[in-house]
Amino acid sequence: MKSYAILVQAAFGILAFASRLPSNMIGTQMTTTSLGNHSLPIPSLVTFGTGVIGGLFHPSPNAEAAKAKIAVLVMHAEQDYTTFYPCRELPVRGYTTLCLNNALSKTGLMNDLDFETMMADVGTGVDYLNNLPGIEKVIIWGHSGGGAMMAAYQNIAENGASACNGTEKIYPCSSAMDGLPAADGVLLIDANFGLSTMTLLSLNPAIKNESTGSDIDSKLDLYNPDNGWTENGANYSAPFTKRFFAGVVSRWNRILTFAEERNKLIEASSGDYSDDEGLVIPDANYIGFNNKFITQDTRFLSHTIHKWPLLHKNGTVSNQIIPSVRVASAGSSTTANSFYDGALKTTITRFLSTFAIRVDANAFRVLADNITGVDWASSQTAPIGSVPGISKPLLTMGNTGHYEYLNAEKIYLASNAEDKSIAFVEGAQHTINVCTECEAYPGEFGDTIKTAFDFMDSWLGKQGRFISL
Ligand SMILES: *[C@@H]1O[C@H](CO)[C@@H](O)[C@H](O)[C@H]1NC(C)=O
Ligand SMILES: *[C@@H]1O[C@H](CO)[C@@H](O)[C@H](O)[C@H]1NC(C)=O
Ligand SMILES: *[C@@H]1O[C@H](CO)[C@@H](O)[C@H](O)[C@H]1NC(C)=O
Ligand SMILES: *[C@@H]1O[C@H](CO)[C@@H](O)[C@H](O)[C@H]1NC(C)=O
Ligand SMILES: *[C@@H]1O[C@H](CO)[C@@H](O)[C@H](O)[C@H]1NC(C)=O
Ligand SMILES: *[C@@H]1O[C@H](CO)[C@@H](O)[C@H](O)[C@H]1NC(C)=O
Repeated sequence: MKSYAILVQAAFGILAFASRLPSNMIGTQMTTTSLGNHSLPIPSLVTFGTGVIGGLFHPSPNAEAAKAKIAVLVMHAEQDYTTFYPCRELPVRGYTTLCLNNALSKTGLMNDLDFETMMADVGTGVDYLNNLPGIEKVIIWGHSGGGAMMAAYQNIAENGASACNGTEKIYPCSSAMDGLPAADGVLLIDANFGLSTMTLLSLNPAIKNESTGSDIDSKLDLYNPDNGWTENGANYSAPFTKRFFAGVVSRWNRILTFAEERNKLIEASSGDYSDDEGLVIPDANYIGFNNKFITQDTRFLSHTIHKWPLLHKNGTVSNQIIPSVRVASAGSSTTANSFYDGALKTTITRFLSTFAIRVDANAFRVLADNITGVDWASSQTAPIGSVPGISKPLLTMGNTGHYEYLNAEKIYLASNAEDKSIAFVEGAQHTINVCTECEAYPGEFGDTIKTAFDFMDSWLGKQGRFISL
């Protein structure tokens, strides 16, 4: 067993070494990008023997040398991001890009996210790039839940464990969070309101019995036409809206109290196991756009409070209040009774450290332009709670074809960074590509991938930011 592990590690060591070869020694391949088809170096396998694995995508051979010295780490909280747009859109624009998966399950079927493992795995990537010959600046790039993860990471890396071990946290972190290497800059692309907040916004208050997803209270049922639902979306009535969110808070707080009580028992060695216990929460899984209410009723999270730059397909930028152009998706009542699609499958300690957040029953509101009554600092994974501790240059971008875009504004407002930037991409869906169903006519929003990455390029490549004057 032991010698096998050493053998495997030795093999992985060789692979990590191979990735340090100059790109001109490893051949090229044709790659389709938003700048056309380009011959890009074949990526090198990078692996650490811990389940953290991905590719080092070398910059275009024609790239400016100054840009190639900037390395971008792309990682998501739980999904496979080794083929996502930045892995080709950044190298074709000249940046060294490490698209790395963390060690957590990528099937989307189980929610084995663990906050400290996520932080350590980002640290592995940053450390690797810091030691890569020729690299001068390391930037972390987080999208959606990956944005929540990267914001938390940078806050902790800049400030140490004291950024996550305070009494304001539901589940303070351990001293293992000291000494993580900080990045030189952060890109948060359609970063969500937090792995925790998105779980809260996915909780179905109509569930009556915590052992099953099949027992539904029709008065709280999102898919009940009497409450304002239609197959094309919803206009929920004011009384239903009030009832629904009051139901979310009371179910959420019941679950949170239960988890905190079980955790006390575990800590006192009186739990069912010595280290943790399982926790299955019916219809609370935030994956696969199982977020509730806002998905169906587009009047909520539909415009920013302030004016910000909006990037159009023709390269112009307008400064305005940013509306969402998203369309409703009706959702499906069958999700509630699905273990894989509906239930959040976690543990007591992972729920508390990764998914939990405190909500004030009297103040919690989801509005057209805001979310109130949430104690952002109580969670380890809510960007609004993390970004105040980030001092390095920060770019936050939102995609107007989705509701998560609104958090870009909240991140910017919460940031204390001296060098902070914000922009919105008109008509991009959450995954950065164009939201075709949002368009009034085909091509209305153009190639949103090009718009988004051209802007990231101008931010990353700006003289005096990461490239010295
Ligand atoms: C790029 O390559 C793809 C497939 O190899 C092809 O379908 C596409 O037309 C090419 N695009 C351009 C702009 O040449
Ligand atoms: C929090 O972390 C800091 C830095 O390691 C440490 O000095 C402090 O004692 C920790 N606080 C608690 C309550 O563990
Ligand atoms: C809750 O659901 C479980 C599993 O279906 C069932 O055994 C139990 O009787 C239910 N409890 C109530 C109060 O209905
Ligand atoms: C909601 O109401 C608005 C205004 O009355 C209407 O334009 C829209 O079509 C309705 N949406 C749905 C999904 O019924
Ligand atoms: C660019 O697009 C915007 C938004 O669609 C439009 O208002 C503007 O007139 C366009 N400008 C040019 C120069 O085409
Ligand atoms: C938006 O909500 C936050 C709390 O999450 C609050 O601090 C802020 O004042 C609100 N802004 C407006 C304009 O309502």
